Amino acid sequence: MTEKKDRVFSGIQPSGNLTLGNYLGAIRNWVGLQKQYESLFCVVDMHAITVSQNPDDLRHSTREVAAGLIAAGLDPKDCILFNQSQVPEHAELAWVFNCVARIGWLNRMTQFKEKAGKHKENASVGLYIYPNLMAADILLYLANKVPVGEDQKQHLELTRDIAQKFNNDFAPDFFPDVEPLIMGEATRVMSLRDGSNKMSKSDPSEYSRINLTDDADTIAKKIRKARTDSDPLPGEEAGLEGRPEAKNLVTIFAALSGRSKADILGQYEGQGFADFKKDLADVSVAHLSPITGEMNRLMQDTQYIDDVLKDGALQARTIAQPVIKRVHEIVGFLHP
Ligand code: TYM
Repeated sequence: MTEKKDRVFSGIQPSGNLTLGNYLGAIRNWVGLQKQYESLFCVVDMHAITVSQNPDDLRHSTREVAAGLIAAGLDPKDCILFNQSQVPEHAELAWVFNCVARIGWLNRMTQFKEKAGKHKENASVGLYIYPNLMAADILLYLANKVPVGEDQKQHLELTRDIAQKFNNDFAPDFFPDVEPLIMGEATRVMSLRDGSNKMSKSDPSEYSRINLTDDADTIAKKIRKARTDSDPLPGEEAGLEGRPEAKNLVTIFAALSGRSKADILGQYEGQGFADFKKDLADVSVAHLSPITGEMNRLMQDTQYIDDVLKDGALQARTIAQPVIKRVHEIVGFLHP
């Protein structure tokens, strides 16, 4: 029953705006993969409610993220695009995994510690067991290739542990070995305000991130205000070590322009950041504006987006249903 062919799965939370980090670390890579592999991309609304969400905002963000993914180049003809809650098998498999994963494993998850902060006792139970649902997202489709940014690495290690324990306890080789695909120049885009923090949609400062909904003026302003140090730009990549803000901006420049960091540094060596930032703003706007425009256009037709997600969910369920049926048989549930 276990299929051995390659299958790609990845997910993204609809908890606010899409950021440049999401785009460079994940979405852009998904676009390249959809033609190469059978691919599923999921707007993970069930993950989003692990922290409190306004229901209307969640509905809006789910559509907006789907629109952003299509605008960035995902084609519903080449991949399966859907929102998680329309495929109830995710929750069903997550329950089984809640019984496979060990509390000690979850206690080691750094993202829970970061997100729960000082108020651990008051965090939702869903936030704590979030990685089990993420493992279920992937393994429900027996997917083996998972394109993500660097911050998801630890969650994918847990997914591998869960798959391995399930296989050991019940059914050798049932779940595949999951391989993280951490691709491209910008696998960890940092905050524009603080080069030691990840660019994140949950950062309270709007100036810390570029959103895919930002217009040209806003992008230019955010880059102009981006924190830097007072040294001139170095001529070589090694000179960026210990200068996280400068390194981040050069990385973004390279990723968006398709030029190497060495080439960029060769051009700006010895200069301050003024011209560099102006050119980076131009490159950013040239790259992102068409996506933003298309995303806004798609958001005028929410019926189209809803139809894409519904159709994607139906396709996803045709893969998921036989897998969950088999899992239920394997663990001993009686369904006469
Ligand atoms: P999320 O919604 O936080 O982010 C979606 C994707 O964007 C990447 N990313 C970044 N990459 C580089 N630099 C950044 N600053 C940056 N910020 C975000 C993330 O690594 C991710 O690939 N738990 C996941 C969603 C998820 C998932 C899954 C992913 C749920 N189920 C199954 C893969 C497979 C998350 O919160 O991603």
